Amino acid sequence: MNLWNENICKHNNFILMCLIFFSLEMVVNKPLAHAFYGHGTLKCQFTSSHDLVYLEQVYFNKRLMVQYNSTLGKYEGYTKKAKDLADGFSKSKPFLEQAVKNREKCRTHMDLVFELQSHPVEPSVRVTPVVRQGSSHQAMLACSAYNFYPKQIRLTWLRNGEKVINYVTSTEELPDGNWLYQIHSYLEYTPSPREEITCMVEHSNKIAVGTALLFGSFVFVAGLFFYKRTTA
Ligand SMILES: *[C@@H]1O[C@H](CO)[C@@H](O)[C@H](O)[C@H]1NC(C)=O
Repeated sequence: MNLWNENICKHNNFILMCLIFFSLEMVVNKPLAHAFYGHGTLKCQFTSSHDLVYLEQVYFNKRLMVQYNSTLGKYEGYTKKAKDLADGFSKSKPFLEQAVKNREKCRTHMDLVFELQSHPVEPSVRVTPVVRQGSSHQAMLACSAYNFYPKQIRLTWLRNGEKVINYVTSTEELPDGNWLYQIHSYLEYTPSPREEITCMVEHSNKIAVGTALLFGSFVFVAGLFFYKRTTA
């Protein structure tokens, strides 16, 4: 709680949180191991290339207590006490004026955000043989795409250039824990010589392919992945 010293509280943006945390601090004075945890966020949510929502949120023990939502243009509280507090803020001219000012500040970053959005983080793609037992088919390949953003992606298996639909299982797009995603697709197949199996990855109007060449039971995986822009 000592983060919320008076200097920070002089900064307009944080007045709301300081009010709440200082009043909590007076009530809650427990040792650190049993500390209560409060945090506040100011968010610019860019909803389209010309619109945004500005949010101020105050949480206590991870529960949302008070929120300003610029679409509503007022503060809302989510417990009885927080409701009273929020109603007070919503009647306060300086609070509302500051919120409108902050929203305008968000707006000044709009161009930058949409510029950044047009530069996706491209996946790194890998095709690897999977060693397993007890399958009706004799072999399995995994195609993995790592560290991509945004989440939308499509993995397709091709066998000698033909799309394969059967014997394919895929995971969802899994969060990597760093705002990026990974996904895995598995193909069961019966090995036959001189076949070419390809995993095609489509992400943000680009295509990457990884190819496995089968020589009987021997799998050679080409480590070469290249991207080309689709014409779509
Ligand atoms: C903000 O308010 C708008 C309008 O009611 C609503 O659609 C939107 O979900 C709200 N945002 C949040 C984060 O509550």
